[in-house]
Amino acid sequence: MMHAAHLDPQLPKPALYAALARELESLIAGERDLIANLANAAALLHHSLPEVNWTGFYLWKAGELVVGPFQGRPACVRIGLGQGVCGTAAMQRRSIVVPNVHEFSGHIACDAASNAEIVVPLLRGERLLGVLDVDSPTFGRFDEQDRLGLERFAAVLLEHVA
Ligand code: SME
Repeated sequence: MMHAAHLDPQLPKPALYAALARELESLIAGERDLIANLANAAALLHHSLPEVNWTGFYLWKAGELVVGPFQGRPACVRIGLGQGVCGTAAMQRRSIVVPNVHEFSGHIACDAASNAEIVVPLLRGERLLGVLDVDSPTFGRFDEQDRLGLERFAAVLLEHVA
């Protein structure tokens, strides 16, 4: 089945994220395998969001974040709680929007091209499953609309994983 071919990256952000949530629903409907769904979710986002260079997941395993399915250059494998943007979002259990990663104390540089970043925690109630991380070479790339859109995207994902 073809997916996402019709998503126009030039759509206003709210419309693009609404379309992405619908697309994700249809992409993972009936499938509960975590890795399969995260892999397709990362691919859908990465090929639909303009100006991104890394899109993927870190999974919470035995007290640290371990890289999961993603699109982009190879990334650092393990991130401790409270480390970098990912570890901070995981620790604080809230989304973090970073307009300029070079000004974020403790930022972990995986791809030198990254200048802006957004991280959304994946929470089932109080339980942390991991984080969704998107990087961009464009300063100020992510804003509140991206936060709301990616939180909605993460919520759809969480409804479909075991
Ligand atoms: N920059 C992240 C690390 C992960 S990579 O961007 C893929 C951070 O500071 O947590």
